[in-house]
Amino acid sequence: MTSDQPADAVVLVGGKGTRLRPLTLSAPKPMLPTAGVPFLSHLLSRIGAAGFRHVVLGTSYRAEVFEDFFGDGAPLGLEIEYVVEDEPLDTAGAIRNVAGRLRADDAVVFNGDILAGADLGELVRTHRDSGADVTLHLQRVADPSRFGSVPTDSSGRVLEFLEKIPDPPTDQINAGCYVFRRSVIESIPEGRPVSVERETFPGLLASGAHIHGYVDSSYWLDVGTPEAFVRGSADLVRGLAPTSALPGEVGESLVLGGAHVAGDAEVDGGSAIGADAEIGAGARVSGSVLFDGASIGEGAVVERSVLGAGARVGAGARLSGVVLGDGASVGARCELVDGARVWPGVELPDGAVRFSSDA
Ligand code: GTP
Repeated sequence: MTSDQPADAVVLVGGKGTRLRPLTLSAPKPMLPTAGVPFLSHLLSRIGAAGFRHVVLGTSYRAEVFEDFFGDGAPLGLEIEYVVEDEPLDTAGAIRNVAGRLRADDAVVFNGDILAGADLGELVRTHRDSGADVTLHLQRVADPSRFGSVPTDSSGRVLEFLEKIPDPPTDQINAGCYVFRRSVIESIPEGRPVSVERETFPGLLASGAHIHGYVDSSYWLDVGTPEAFVRGSADLVRGLAPTSALPGEVGESLVLGGAHVAGDAEVDGGSAIGADAEIGAGARVSGSVLFDGASIGEGAVVERSVLGAGARVGAGARLSGVVLGDGASVGARCELVDGARVWPGVELPDGAVRFSSDA
């Protein structure tokens, strides 16, 4: 942090995480085990490493589990407060809802499902030096047509917010991290859902406010989909994504205590194997996430997949790009391919059956 007064950190963790169902039926997205710890642990480690101390979590869906796990934040060197929305207030509504807890003149707001390497001290410094009302972390990406884009002028001032279009004029996208002047937060309407992207930012721009961009091109990933979630976990395990919360050494796999991997099984591609999980003889697990107590039978192949807590994969089965809910089970020799999702507790019978849609 750059000035005497550290900014507050606000983390938005109240979303329902519908794109990650069925995993998010039992835990909110920021609490899903990612490289061995809840996703939010990685983000909080980055926030702490950047010199923030006071962190406010804006919660709604499954609010209680955050405080149960992180408590007052002291073991992380943080002071964490929790604010609960009775009804989800959407992103800007959630930011407005924590205004009473803010202490500094500016607050850095984080979406709770982003892995990023941008220098937070530089982000705050840019905001303070430019005197902006709001400063957005803008990420340069290879394919900006998949996102809304945010062009800036030569001084870094945001010119407009563009919807997804086939050939955007810039490769800068909204990276889901913003520095707000506290008075701007206080100007957001209270007590109703408000979206930062759809309402607050366009409204501020139209009223002549100074919105600035801090452009960065280091690591960035929104882990909101199953494909991105497994990639993010693997990148953390392999040391490609920044964290100081990895519960082990950087490498091709992370195996938590109590897990058992048969001697001739292969586990690689940044796979994370949860506590008490079992991997049978001759099985191959690549780029995947196994929650606690999941098991994979002999000779099975599991790639780029997430296995919920206690999920079971039978001998000789093949899974690629699949999500198994908690306690789901896939029979021997089943084949499940990209996009298949098996709901918690569902049991698929043995047999070389190809399931490629939800079950
Ligand atoms: P999907 O349902 O899969 O789109 O996920 P999501 O509900 O998390 O929505 P999205 O990815 O757009 O949310 C971006 C960030 O804002 C995430 O960190 C969410 O937890 C958070 N968020 C979204 N809506 C709310 C809300 O109503 N209240 C709070 N406190 N946070 C929210």
